[in-house]
Amino acid sequence: MFLRLRGADEKKVVAPAFPYIPLDARGWRLAMGLRPLEVSRWLEIDHLRSEQLALKKELLAHQRDVVVATLPEGDAASSELLVEVLEWLCRYAPWLKVTPPPSEHPIVAAALVVQEDLCVLVRSDDWRLAAACVCFPSRWLLATKIGRTIDEIHQPVPGYGESLAGPTNSVFDRLSEDKPYWRLNWTLIDDATLHQPTSEHRAPHGDLDQWFFRVERQSIRRLSESGAIVFTIHNYVASVAELRDTPEFIEHLLMGLEGSPPATQEYKGWIGVAERLREALA
Ligand code: HEM
Repeated sequence: MFLRLRGADEKKVVAPAFPYIPLDARGWRLAMGLRPLEVSRWLEIDHLRSEQLALKKELLAHQRDVVVATLPEGDAASSELLVEVLEWLCRYAPWLKVTPPPSEHPIVAAALVVQEDLCVLVRSDDWRLAAACVCFPSRWLLATKIGRTIDEIHQPVPGYGESLAGPTNSVFDRLSEDKPYWRLNWTLIDDATLHQPTSEHRAPHGDLDQWFFRVERQSIRRLSESGAIVFTIHNYVASVAELRDTPEFIEHLLMGLEGSPPATQEYKGWIGVAERLREALA
């Protein structure tokens, strides 16, 4: 959660603590976990804004093919998205100086002025990923997802087809412009780097300060003109050592790790991790 100070301090954007810890005593569950989203909270701005925008610029200059994928059918929605992003910034963060590059693809221009990664899904025979600028993928490859349906995108995710495919497609079909949603995903990884375009999911090792809790705050919102859906992803990363004194964090993390099915542990790179975490803490 970010905090905006009012009045004279309005320009300060601070992050008081790690904003989201989507763990609890119920342990691991594969769930949509969608919550209604106030449009004023669509995007988030924190103290890492300049650093993350600079990183995006750098990645776009040197690894454009890895972080951008667009199809012609996503162009109109991407232009609409750029307008929405600029209007949102103007309204909810008026103190920011925002200059999107004029000759860029609109989804890239939009992604360069916000911390979020941006994806546009367009309905043809099915909902398909039609444009995306994803600089901070958490161990997946954008090039393998462009043009794919939501089910195809999630093919590597254990249990997704059985438990989440039906509800997710149905939410996408019914999503109305005035009712966006958000959700959280988490994982434990051994690298704090935001840009991880790999399908390798290896288990954390090393000291506690080399293990990282990575949370994705995602949102879905329908655009009014094109009818396309925008999927945003904002990443938050902290070392486990940094979070270990947060009440119940370690206890709930262990419950999440140990309670997840073997296929999920394999997919996430968590095999043997709970045991190692216990040893590291002992
Ligand atoms: C709101 C509905 C959605 C739900 C409930 C959902 C759920 C999930 C879950 C549970 C995972 C496994 C990740 C983990 O546990 O670490 C996942 C991974 C992923 N999701 Fe989604 N997701 C949704 C929408 C989307 C959309 C619209 C995209 C479009 C780009 C997307 C792209 C991905 C990708 C690329 C992965 C990684 C897949 C891989 O490992 O190759 N998700 N999603």
